[in-house]
Amino acid sequence: MLKTDILIVGSGISGLFFAMKTAKKRPDLSIVIMTKKMAKNTSTQLAQGGIAVVTNLLQDSFEQHIQDTLKSGGGQCDEEIVKMVVEQAPERLKELLEIGTSFDKNQNGQWDLGLEGGHSQHRILHHKDRSGLEIEKKLLNIITELPNIRLFENYQVIDLNTEKKENETHCTGAFFYDKNENKIKYIRCRSIILSTGGCGNLFENTTNPEIATGDGIAIAARAGVEIEDMQYIQFHPTALYTGKKSQLFLISEAVRGFGAYVVNEDQKRFLFKYDSRGELATRDIVSHAIHKEMHETQKKHVYLDCRHLDMKAFYKKFPAITSHCNELGLFPEKDLIPVVPAAHYQCGGIKVDRNSATAIPNLYAVGECARTGLHGKNRLASNSLLEALVFAHQASENIDKTIELYQFSSKVLIPKFPNKEIKTDYVAFLILKKEIQALITNFYSSEERNTDYAIHKIKLIKNAAETLIHNQEITIPFIEFSNMLTVALIIIKHCKKRKSPYILSLN
Ligand code: SIN
Repeated sequence: MLKTDILIVGSGISGLFFAMKTAKKRPDLSIVIMTKKMAKNTSTQLAQGGIAVVTNLLQDSFEQHIQDTLKSGGGQCDEEIVKMVVEQAPERLKELLEIGTSFDKNQNGQWDLGLEGGHSQHRILHHKDRSGLEIEKKLLNIITELPNIRLFENYQVIDLNTEKKENETHCTGAFFYDKNENKIKYIRCRSIILSTGGCGNLFENTTNPEIATGDGIAIAARAGVEIEDMQYIQFHPTALYTGKKSQLFLISEAVRGFGAYVVNEDQKRFLFKYDSRGELATRDIVSHAIHKEMHETQKKHVYLDCRHLDMKAFYKKFPAITSHCNELGLFPEKDLIPVVPAAHYQCGGIKVDRNSATAIPNLYAVGECARTGLHGKNRLASNSLLEALVFAHQASENIDKTIELYQFSSKVLIPKFPNKEIKTDYVAFLILKKEIQALITNFYSSEERNTDYAIHKIKLIKNAAETLIHNQEITIPFIEFSNMLTVALIIIKHCKKRKSPYILSLN
């Protein structure tokens, strides 16, 4: 029977940073990182913009970063958390630099700080337009060198096991699907960290990778942990429009920070009608304005106009964006780039305290799946990688002090699910997943937001799925589908409780 002191689910920046710090500090503890695909298949590695840190104290200050974050969050942030994250940023950055992470510098050898929407100062450290990839690679290198960490790829966690001890619920292990052997197994552990990312794939258009199906939210909800603020889904204003409903390539906000304009069909800028900051207003405002423009002009997209920019500098700063556009026959020096808003980031999630702990004290959540109080209604650009580092650090410090309170459960659980993979259900669940995406996209974009109707539709989809499940067999498509269904229902219910700030039409 498998056993580890600490189980981490997910291999993005938050899970890996936690693993690295904890493994170094506590070589006596065994750590398993489980990830449902290959370790590098994460949202982190798609992050282009970078990481917001106050480094230039001559022009910038913690107070300004705090105020920008609070303003972007629309009065819904937890001020103490915002202060903690902003003030910790330089220390966490130092740790990234110590493992060899490289961020761009200017000719004077100083950080080449980028500007993004909602920031009053240039403060984004970046590695060209591949910041997340650089961080992910450096962390994965370290992880493989640490002897007390095991990395399990192609392992899909299904559910947590909890036990009640003296009126307190503890997590004692997890059931998971080992895709390599097509078997459902159980792992015992003393502490669990969920770092499973977001739920962008509940929407037809998203910048997220296909692994982002809200698994951590669904798993935590089934374990009885509180989920908060799932009505606050952030839409990135500038995903590359292709005419397809699918994962869309991101055109980083840093491109607007570098001076690109957002223009309509008549090649006119229109964002100043909505906010005096124009292209550099916060994402909620820019996405909303683009949506209105698309609606009023009956067009399927707007454009990014880069033609007036210093193109030599542009290509140097944005090589990945340039080469992706070029592959599609788009040349930013002469062509307008068609863009639309797309689901990008889940501001809510599993409710955690400042130590990343949930209401189940040995269950933690870090990264996008956690609701920490930092983002409020609308995350400030490039605050997500920062949040992941800070809360991974907090969790690591906390576990170091508390893990002795949690011993392995003596119960050895035999997986309750039969081991059988039905290949034929793949297509059926793919169709049902698309139904969820259409439902959530339409629900989120409609003025009315008819929750009763949406819940009724969820029930219909659930009924259709039940006819597909023979003898309780659990398969990978079924696991992802049921997580998506659970999260869809949570989003609908949270939207009923509290309206999200803007209605977005993504059709
Ligand atoms: C971007 O590069 O525009 C995305 C960065 C972020 O989501 O903060």
